[in-house]
Amino acid sequence: MTKKILITGSAGFIGFHLSKRLLDSGYEVIGFDNLNSYYDIQLKQERLNQLNKLSIENSYYWKFIKGNLEDKEKMIQLFKEFKPCIIVHLAAQAGVRYSIVNPEAYLKANIFGFQNILYCSEKYNIENLIYASSSSVYGGNTKTPFSESDQVNHPVSLYAASKKANELFAHVYSHLYNIPSTALRFFTVYGPWGRPDMAPMIFTKAIIEKKPIRIFNNGDMQRDFTYIDDVIESILRLIKKPAKANKNFKKELPDSSSSWCPHRIFNIGNSNPVPLMKFINILESELDQKAIKVFEPMQLGDVKSTYSDTSKLENWINYKPKISLEEGIKKFIIWYKEFYKLN
Ligand SMILES: NC(=O)c1ccc[n+]([C@@H]2O[C@H](COP(=O)([O-])OP(=O)(O)OC[C@H]3O[C@@H](n4cnc5c(N)ncnc54)[C@H](O)[C@@H]3O)[C@@H](O)[C@H]2O)c1
Repeated sequence: MTKKILITGSAGFIGFHLSKRLLDSGYEVIGFDNLNSYYDIQLKQERLNQLNKLSIENSYYWKFIKGNLEDKEKMIQLFKEFKPCIIVHLAAQAGVRYSIVNPEAYLKANIFGFQNILYCSEKYNIENLIYASSSSVYGGNTKTPFSESDQVNHPVSLYAASKKANELFAHVYSHLYNIPSTALRFFTVYGPWGRPDMAPMIFTKAIIEKKPIRIFNNGDMQRDFTYIDDVIESILRLIKKPAKANKNFKKELPDSSSSWCPHRIFNIGNSNPVPLMKFINILESELDQKAIKVFEPMQLGDVKSTYSDTSKLENWINYKPKISLEEGIKKFIIWYKEFYKLN
């Protein structure tokens, strides 16, 4: 029987790619998003147009519902009407820096909104709940690579704290109601249809327009850039392999990556941190244009370095992200120029 999947945040960057891939793989997909104005609504709308077109052309089962996660009645209605059996929850207020200026948005979407997802997962017998966490939960940790077994009790932004709270909330629901739930700690995802508030898009736009780019911590940063196709492949495999209780879990020596109940946490990263200046060099050479660089101090809420250990993911789904930054940026720039009609 065809599985019905609810993708929240389906007009967003990762949600769009995932919806497309699932539709092409024969799943029935219900998309949910409020199309908020945190960044260009036109881009979100354009992603949805692509999904609508794809499903009309191929007679795919694709329903899109516009709504807020915080609207409990709306969420209940959705579950009653469409009866999804799997959820990939990607809708959230994203962004580290914005959480410094608008903390309320994170409480609404990431805390109250997530609670509604958990409530509906229990009431409507969800078989597999997969939800977005973030590499930002590693906060001030400096032991690298970051492992899911590390303690993550020192967040440096409200965004990070909200994602860590999601992991704790989900664990409670897995324990109380035996709901299989899997947290995905994404590491700087980039690629075509990417987010205009993230460095690849911000820098590309500025370089093309010959405007200055702001380089924080004077360039002394590194990020574990992860290409979107690697992220989607990982999620696809996790959809087929719900979290299970860890039979060897030791309560007297608890490891946070798994539990006695069906809750798991996985890093989704490239395990290959790239210095910021190298990332800018790759962009410059792909665009054949030098950036105007303005060096600035570290921003509040930012971390200096991210670096994922993906051995647990690899053991679980026999896959680890592998696309190099050079290869990924090439594909991203091709899309960027085509989308913004720069050729
Ligand atoms: N892209 C990354 O590098 C990255 C890194 C770490 C974690 N994440 C997490 O992965 C998830 C997906 O990220 P993305 O890059 O696709 O972000 P995105 O902002 O492109 O997508 C999120 C979508 O959720 C929607 N949304 C936000 N609040 C909502 C609400 N209250 N109700 C309904 N819809 C709402 C937005 O309109 C948006 O379309 C997010 O949870 C994000 O925090 C992403």
